[in-house]
Amino acid sequence: MPVRSYFPTLLYRAPLQSAGLTRLNADLAAECRQLRDFDAAGRRWSAKNYPGGYTSYASMNELHRFSSTFAALEKKLLRHARAYARALEFDLRGRTVRLSDCWVNIMPPTAAHSLHLHPLSFISGTYYVVTPRGCPGLKFEDPRLSKFMAAPPRLPTAAPAHVTFPARAGDVVLFESWLRHEVPANRVAEERISISFNFSWS
Ligand code: NI
Repeated sequence: MPVRSYFPTLLYRAPLQSAGLTRLNADLAAECRQLRDFDAAGRRWSAKNYPGGYTSYASMNELHRFSSTFAALEKKLLRHARAYARALEFDLRGRTVRLSDCWVNIMPPTAAHSLHLHPLSFISGTYYVVTPRGCPGLKFEDPRLSKFMAAPPRLPTAAPAHVTFPARAGDVVLFESWLRHEVPANRVAEERISISFNFSWS
């Protein structure tokens, strides 16, 4: 066959660590909820920009600098991000992958996060802390979708234009920051908690 595949999109998903996730996630969940109680500016920002939910994205987005729990998480995330950067075959020119931003997302019932990407970053990702059964996953869009123009629909055997990674507590998901993604509305009764982050190379 004279046809080959080019320009692949690589996504990364792995458990953060092989043991001790229950304890770690309990500690992180408690801190995330404390942060929501404490962060009045973040709650105000979320009321406008993250309806029904809470995010510290605009108020406290360097949590790894202020909390030992998050600093410990940073160390673990870096191992994954560096492995992903190697898989992407980046030449870091003597620099290294660093965590630049790290923030909390709490999604009660009905909260959603519409399609977006992460500007000013090269690798981004999410770590799942509390994922009640049936809560929404992370939905990625084929980056070619806006360029399909007059193409006919594809057969059921073709790769889909969207792929959803289920949210599983203890999992790290990494993607290149330009890849658009969203979290559909949470339709279960309990809140879903995740921690999102961006990486730089410096
Ligand atoms: Ni995002």
